[in-house]
Amino acid sequence: QLRGAVALDGPSGTGKSTVSRRLAIALGATYLDTGAMYRAATLAVLRAGVDPGAAEEATAVVAAARMTMGTDPRLPGVGLDGEDVAEEIRGAEVTGAVSAVSAVGEIRELLVQRQRELVRQALAEPGGVVVEGRDIGTVVLPDAGLKVYLTASADARAQRRTEQDVAEGRTGDLASTRASVQRRDALDSGRAVAPLRAAGDALELDTTELGIDQVVTRLQDLAAERD
Ligand code: C5P
Repeated sequence: QLRGAVALDGPSGTGKSTVSRRLAIALGATYLDTGAMYRAATLAVLRAGVDPGAAEEATAVVAAARMTMGTDPRLPGVGLDGEDVAEEIRGAEVTGAVSAVSAVGEIRELLVQRQRELVRQALAEPGGVVVEGRDIGTVVLPDAGLKVYLTASADARAQRRTEQDVAEGRTGDLASTRASVQRRDALDSGRAVAPLRAAGDALELDTTELGIDQVVTRLQDLAAERD
């Protein structure tokens, strides 16, 4: 069992990223944002002018792309071919195309392999690693020492995503964000390969009525029980 690994999965807008980073800081752990990897892969595909749904071409682009993932929870940088793309991967263009790219099985294989390698490196250090995504508990790290699946009502998720967009300087409109979040979740849950779902042995935590601090405290308690 990978005792030092925490797997945090769930749909968008559950507070997953904020919570994962805060938990990693509290535990003195490193942090891996696998969504950022699918986003960087999508940016590479878009930049190459390849249709995100063209599996074979898109896979070739991702295989050739030089992706660097920072694992410091305070400043997790994302690089693509030597360029800092942390902001660009959050934009509407990448967000609109990422579910198509992440549905390609060969691309998932490439990225899952890199994710496991990054986790292996992280676990060589004390403190452990917090990994967030959609398929961490089910596919990437089925042996993680702690698996949590975060949920929240559709309203709460749309509201949080909109607030986050506004806070980070992107346009935030509740109705269109709600539609975009729902569309992405439907695609991620409905795909054939590694669909979004809770692992059988994951703890489900509904964050609709909880503040970030409460969620982080709850996860710290769970991590302490594990130790
Ligand atoms: O977490 P984030 O919203 O940044 O993820 C972006 C997209 O990447 C998701 O909508 C999903 O399509 C894909 N993803 C995935 N598997 C993961 C993490 C993200 O398919 N482990």
